[in-house]
Amino acid sequence: MAAKQLDSFLTVVDLAAQKHQGAKELLASFEGEDLDRRAISMAISSDDLFARSVLHLANSPYYSRGREVTSVDYAVALIGQWAIRGYALLDIFREYGALSKGAWTHSSIVAISAFHVAETLGADPALSYSAGLIHDVGAFVLRSCDSDKYLEIEKIFANGLTVDSQKEYLEAERVAFGVDHCELGAAILAHFNFPTEMVEAVRDHHLVEEAISPITRSIVDGERIVHLSQISFERWNDKSLFPLQYTVSDTYGAVRFMTEEASLLFDEYETID
Ligand SMILES: [Fe+2]
Ligand SMILES: [Fe+2]
Repeated sequence: MAAKQLDSFLTVVDLAAQKHQGAKELLASFEGEDLDRRAISMAISSDDLFARSVLHLANSPYYSRGREVTSVDYAVALIGQWAIRGYALLDIFREYGALSKGAWTHSSIVAISAFHVAETLGADPALSYSAGLIHDVGAFVLRSCDSDKYLEIEKIFANGLTVDSQKEYLEAERVAFGVDHCELGAAILAHFNFPTEMVEAVRDHHLVEEAISPITRSIVDGERIVHLSQISFERWNDKSLFPLQYTVSDTYGAVRFMTEEASLLFDEYETID
């Protein structure tokens, strides 16, 4: 059942990607490997829409820090190949109409938070940022299939990300759609040639057991920090919500860093004309 459901969702995503040939070709060209900056710039420049999107992002306060960016090559240098790959996938979903402003905001803030956590764990922050950007792509697809049904499921997280609420959430998705957003997201990443550690991080991002890879841990904790930033400080005493390996002051520092950095990126969602 799940395999059949996965295939039909992947067909939908593939159809959406047809409309965004440059981003699709860029992702296909990686085949799991690094590409040099020139090759990435050329692939981006072959797709006018994606090239404008990349330049728009590079000129956001987050990346440009006040400099004007006019060349795709320089934009790639500023953003980095891993984040570019994440943005290419997000752009496919934007074209498909499945990337709401709320989804963009959540993806950006988890990416920034995961980047910060990865640095403290000694994981590769660039990979964690990219995985953070696309950790919920499976949810975008499920939400676009039936937004009312998905809204009901999202209520499960209203009281925070606990071990139990995460299990309940994924189970509710499987009952409603035949597949959960972690499994679907991992299949989408594998389909678009993302490396195994990113595929696993997306597959496991609602697992909270200790024995998970550093990149997965950066997404799990990055997302918990985002959720903590959205609830009252008093609830930080709730040990089922608090990432135990961090002190309150470390977490407070992470929340401040993430909030300030994310404010430089939030306005970049608007579609480029
Ligand atoms: Fe998420
Ligand atoms: Fe998620």
